[in-house]
Amino acid sequence: MSVKVFETKDVQDLLTAASNLGGQAGNARFQQITHRLLSDLFKAIDDLDITPDEVWAGVHYLNKLGQDGEAALLAAGIGLEKYLDIRMDAADKAVGLEGGTPRTIEGPLYVAGAPVREGVSRIDINPDADAGPLVIRGTVTDLEGKPLAGAHVECWHANSKGFYSHFDPTGAQTEFNLRGAVKTGADGKYEFRTLMPVGYGCPPQGATQQLLDGLGRHGNRPAHVHFFVTSDDHRKLTTQFNIEGDPLIWDDFAYATREELIPPVVEKTGGAALGLKADTYKEIEFNLTLTALLQGKDNQIVHRPRASAEA
Ligand code: DHB
Ligand code: FE
Repeated sequence: MSVKVFETKDVQDLLTAASNLGGQAGNARFQQITHRLLSDLFKAIDDLDITPDEVWAGVHYLNKLGQDGEAALLAAGIGLEKYLDIRMDAADKAVGLEGGTPRTIEGPLYVAGAPVREGVSRIDINPDADAGPLVIRGTVTDLEGKPLAGAHVECWHANSKGFYSHFDPTGAQTEFNLRGAVKTGADGKYEFRTLMPVGYGCPPQGATQQLLDGLGRHGNRPAHVHFFVTSDDHRKLTTQFNIEGDPLIWDDFAYATREELIPPVVEKTGGAALGLKADTYKEIEFNLTLTALLQGKDNQIVHRPRASAEA
C-alpha cells in the first residue's frame, strides 16, 4: 500500500487542527512543537509505509513505558540525553567557552536531599559484602585553577548489584545509601568514603529493555559515579566518571563515556585509619573544574522532575 498522502491539503489541515497551530487558546510554543513532531511522525508513516499494526504496537508501547515509569530511562538509552549534551557542548564552543570538566548525562536516578557534610562524607550506610572500599576525592577549582570554597559537590552511584538506593527493587538499601553531598572548605577539597560500584543494567522486564531487545542492543552501563557540582558565580556541572577497566566503558548503552572522565584507580593502604571496612582500598582522584557564569547566567541549569527524599 505505497500511497503518499502527507502533502495533501486534508492531511496538512488535520495537522494544523490537531496541534491547534495559530489558535487563540493554548500555548504557542507547545503548539509549534506538537505540530512539528506530529508532522514528522505522519511523514515517517508515509515514507516508510508504517502499517496500522506497527502504529498500534507503538501506541501500546507508550502505555507500557508509562506503566513501568521508564520514560527517562528510555531517554538515556535512545541517545536523547546524550544529544542534549552534544548541543550544550556546541553552544559552549560557539561562544568560545572551553575548558572545565566535561559534562555528561545526569541519568534518571538522582534523589535530592542528601545530607550535606563539610569536606568529607562517608556515604556507604548499608553493608555490601561484595563491594570493596573506595575513596573518591579531588579539588573543585575555577578555570584558572583557583580552589573554590563553599562549592557543593553531590555524588550518587550504584551498589555491588548495580542498584541505586531509592530505586532498588530488592529493598536492600536505605534512603541516601551511596548518595552524598559535601561543601568544600578554603582548599576546595571534597572527599567521599564509599564502596566500589558495579555497572547498572536496565530492568530486564521493563519497556526500555524491550525496545533495546528489538534493536539488538544491550541495556548496560559501565560502573560509574554521578556528580552535580555548584558554586556561587559558576555554572552547575553535571557529570560522571567511569571506573577504569570496566569492559563496557566504550559500550555504554546511555553513551555517557568521555575520554576525560576515566580517572585512574589507585590501590592504597591505610583504610583502617580512615574508618573504611578494609585497610586496602581503592582511591580515585577526580578534580572538578567549573566554568564561570555566561553574562551573569547559568545556562547549564536543567529543570526536570527529580525524586527527592528526607535524609
Ligand atoms: C540510566 C541509568 C543510569 O544509572 C544512568 O546513569 C543513566 C541512565 C538508565 O537506566 O537509562
Ligand atoms: Fe547511573
